[in-house]
Amino acid sequence: MSHATEPLQGKHIVLGITGGIAAYKAAVLTRLLVKAGAEVQVIMTPAAREFITPLTLATLSGKGVITEFFTANTGEWHSHVSLGLWADAMVIAPATACTIGKMAHGIADNMLVTSYLSCRAQVFVAPAMDLDMMAHPSTVANIKRLRSYGNIIIEPGEGELASHLVGKGRMAEPEEIADTLRSFFASSGDLAGKHILITAGPTYERIDPVRFIGNFSTGKMGYAIANEAARRGAQVTLVSGPVSGLSAIPGVNVVNVESARQMLAAATEAWKTADVAVLAAAVADYRPEHQADTKIKRETDDVASLPLVQNPDIAATLGAAKRPGQVLVGFALETNNAIEYAIGKLQRKHLDMIVVNSLADAGAGFGVDTNKVAILYADGRPSVNIPLESKCDVAADIINNILAL
Ligand code: CTP
Repeated sequence: MSHATEPLQGKHIVLGITGGIAAYKAAVLTRLLVKAGAEVQVIMTPAAREFITPLTLATLSGKGVITEFFTANTGEWHSHVSLGLWADAMVIAPATACTIGKMAHGIADNMLVTSYLSCRAQVFVAPAMDLDMMAHPSTVANIKRLRSYGNIIIEPGEGELASHLVGKGRMAEPEEIADTLRSFFASSGDLAGKHILITAGPTYERIDPVRFIGNFSTGKMGYAIANEAARRGAQVTLVSGPVSGLSAIPGVNVVNVESARQMLAAATEAWKTADVAVLAAAVADYRPEHQADTKIKRETDDVASLPLVQNPDIAATLGAAKRPGQVLVGFALETNNAIEYAIGKLQRKHLDMIVVNSLADAGAGFGVDTNKVAILYADGRPSVNIPLESKCDVAADIINNILAL
């Protein structure tokens, strides 16, 4: 890759190295980043120095390695604040369970975690640990917390680990980490100045104060798109139905709603100024005709049937109000005849693009962290098949395909 098109050229990268056997791969990563034109400042935890010498990393990066808050013999102070401000990105590779735990809970007892807390730039975390540590609920919860702070997790691979056990926990290869950074810099800011509306999650349609009609949508796909769009510089309005355990990154304007009619009102308002709408919500098609003010009682009310009325179609409403230049993207989750039904929705709702997932595909659909989708266009361009990947990666692919419109 020539330097003119190398997104890493001139970028300031703080590389945090923690004490795991994969620390030796950090030397290769340093070399790759420097070769691509980045300036790399290495911070090591004291434990990391047991696995690889600072001399190796100082030589490869061309900069002194920092471990302590100050240099013992000279008293020179290393400012975590100025490092945090200097960074265009911070990468922690390898990230041990211990450091991930400290980052998740703000335990700033070393230079690396202190710099992490001071860092305003995007943080990438490449976990590396034994498979059982990786799968422990404590690690799983801590990684989830880091995601909620907006950190990007570079997933470990599966394979033989230092323990000779085989499973998930091998740090991503240095080439993959460098490529993740590269595509981050290549895409960051490419949505600046755009207002993107996203709907996510299910809607709840009240029957009485304690019961509702809903569906199994968890909102993961919509939140992933919102976070990715915000990261890339868009102004994001996320109209969210009731979800739990998800958080939007700072900067996303979240409008919490419950019912389809509330979602319609919030989406219609945002559509007045939005350039793009991505409708990932699973909207209940029907609601009870009457909502009881008090709990329906089995003995006295004897409800044998529940009359329903149709909810408004948010996608079709926005489609009908579409101004020239606005892009409307829908989703279709089908159990059968996916493509045929999706084409119908594309036309009926005046969508420009529809993302189709089939519940028949393993790893796709509600609740899971992965998705496998196809993208169809209204303007007749060929459809795109996206293989099974994390919902974060699917989100990036969806946005890339919207930008191509
Ligand atoms: N949608 C919407 N408002 C509704 C129903 C659906 O905005 N009341 C949007 C969804 O967010 C999605 C697309 O329309 O982007 C397709 O949703 P889906 O539920 O698959 O379509 P329906 O028209 O409800 O068709 P059906 O339930 O018959 O498959």
